Amino acid sequence: MITIGISSQKGGVGKTTVSINLAYAFARSGRKVLVIDADPQGSVGLSLTRKTRKLKGFFDYLNDPKTTLESVVVPTRIETLCLVPAGQGSDYDMGFGYDSDSSSGVQSFLVDVEKAGYDVCIVDTAAGLFGITRDVLVEVDAVLVPQQSEPLGIRSMPKMLEALKKVRLLNPRLHILGVLLTMVQRNLRESVEAGEGLRSVLPKKLVMDAEIPREDIFVKASARGLPVGVLKSGTAVLEEFDALRKEIEKKLLGS
Ligand SMILES: Nc1ncnc2c1ncn2[C@@H]1O[C@H](COP(=O)(O)OP(=O)(O)OP(=O)(O)O)[C@@H](O)[C@H]1O
Ligand SMILES: [Mg+2]
Repeated sequence: MITIGISSQKGGVGKTTVSINLAYAFARSGRKVLVIDADPQGSVGLSLTRKTRKLKGFFDYLNDPKTTLESVVVPTRIETLCLVPAGQGSDYDMGFGYDSDSSSGVQSFLVDVEKAGYDVCIVDTAAGLFGITRDVLVEVDAVLVPQQSEPLGIRSMPKMLEALKKVRLLNPRLHILGVLLTMVQRNLRESVEAGEGLRSVLPKKLVMDAEIPREDIFVKASARGLPVGVLKSGTAVLEEFDALRKEIEKKLLGS
């Protein structure tokens, strides 16, 4: 199984959108995929099924040893794609993790996910690198960092990557897949230049070749609770996420 955390320092850069659509791309390629919503605000749930706020989820598992993985997995209308909603955040809602050994709950969760036969597990996180997000990054194999292709956001990227290197002291096998440019506006000079600027300051291997364009269809899809690819007009976007999936597979599996 491969586990991928989707994280960023800034909010609203497209983490949840990337999590759902990348998961869909893996699911379409025949993998059994689980998306975990590790954001106490529960955004994946809102987007995929609309009523998951009241369902039990990831945080219930962390808070109560009696909660099983099985009881928090929600099937979606795509057969090979399942979801674990956030559930009730409790302490983590306040930005606090557990006092000591705080990633062990996440670790046992991921062990259960592997035992359940999933091939790919994608973990959508809250913005920032503290609390539960840090605990997730201590346990996953890889991290992908979405970043909006606009000048202000781009400036903070070298700092974010430095912070991730510190997380790697706690998780030496963490593969930093790199930055994924999102909401790229190919017809807007400032957006294109921001992306080019980022590519010029970071090592090539730390910026994904794939880019996600800004398209209204993302907003439409999340309003209807669907990955973009299942909408008729979403096929072009499917290709972008397939390219991203292949690039990730090459980096992680060498194939
Ligand atoms: N490529 C895109 N094109 C157009 N709109 C997008 C795109 N990606 C995301 N959006 C929209 O931008 C908003 C923020 O996206 P999203 O929720 O995925 O970001 P996030 O990083 O998960 O935010 P948060 O930090 O609050 O969890 C949403 O309304 C989403 O529909
Ligand atoms: Mg989100």
